[in-house]
Amino acid sequence: MSGRGNLLCVRGLRKRHGHRELLRGLDFDLSAHDCVLLTGENGAGKSTLLRILAGLERPDGGAFSLAGAHALPWRRARKALGRTILYLHQQPWMFDGSVAYNLGYGLRGSRRSRRARINEALAWIEMEAFADTPARTLSGGERQRIALARAWLRQPAVMLLDEPTANLDRDARQRTLALLHRLHQEGMTLVIASHDPDHFGGLIRRHLHLDDGRLGEQPVPGGPPVRLVGGGEPA
Ligand SMILES: Nc1ncnc2c1ncn2[C@@H]1O[C@H](COP(=O)(O)OP(=O)(O)OP(=O)(O)O)[C@@H](O)[C@H]1O
Ligand SMILES: [Mg+2]
Repeated sequence: MSGRGNLLCVRGLRKRHGHRELLRGLDFDLSAHDCVLLTGENGAGKSTLLRILAGLERPDGGAFSLAGAHALPWRRARKALGRTILYLHQQPWMFDGSVAYNLGYGLRGSRRSRRARINEALAWIEMEAFADTPARTLSGGERQRIALARAWLRQPAVMLLDEPTANLDRDARQRTLALLHRLHQEGMTLVIASHDPDHFGGLIRRHLHLDDGRLGEQPVPGGPPVRLVGGGEPA
């Protein structure tokens, strides 16, 4: 497989949990600036797939190619996957400490430049007043926005969002969606696993559906023509 022109090419991805074959040889391409909706029933394997792509969970087989590089087994691609692709959990994990501490964790540079970037990130999510708030006291929607600000600071090429609007009220959902639009406009490639496709109208350009261990591509109203998944026929 060449993988050229694609940010990520996956071929023959397999994963089994116990006796159940969860992912049955998936072929999956992601182009720069894609915005993909991933649907599937509870237990279909969406989170498992996203975690494998982000280098967090080991598959049983498959080849991974990033930005046209040689295809590698997951074990050898893992570090590069982790550097390029960020997985965002539905309930983002916060360190014990202030919001500013959480945003600054792992940032390089002088104390002053780190502080300036943290302030920029807080302004980006319109949460300047929360800098000193203990992060673990935040609501689910606020945590979600802090996690998006952390991603904004880190600037991964690809972000995988696992049910980013589940359990959010309308206001929190709108805020999260506005931030996702901005991340996408600023050039980030997004994959969003969700049971609520209607929440993401206007943002989604492709729709992949995971069913019985296989991925199918579905048309998106107003979107581009259905693409081929992994060079095969449209589902
Ligand atoms: N570590 C594990 N050990 C055994 N089984 C697991 C493990 N992780 C996930 N599974 C099983 O794999 C299946 C797929 O789980 P996964 O969380 O990927 O589904 P999902 O599509 O994200 O579902 P949901 O829509 O409910 O979030 C489930 O049946 C789950 O119980
Ligand atoms: Mg899930």
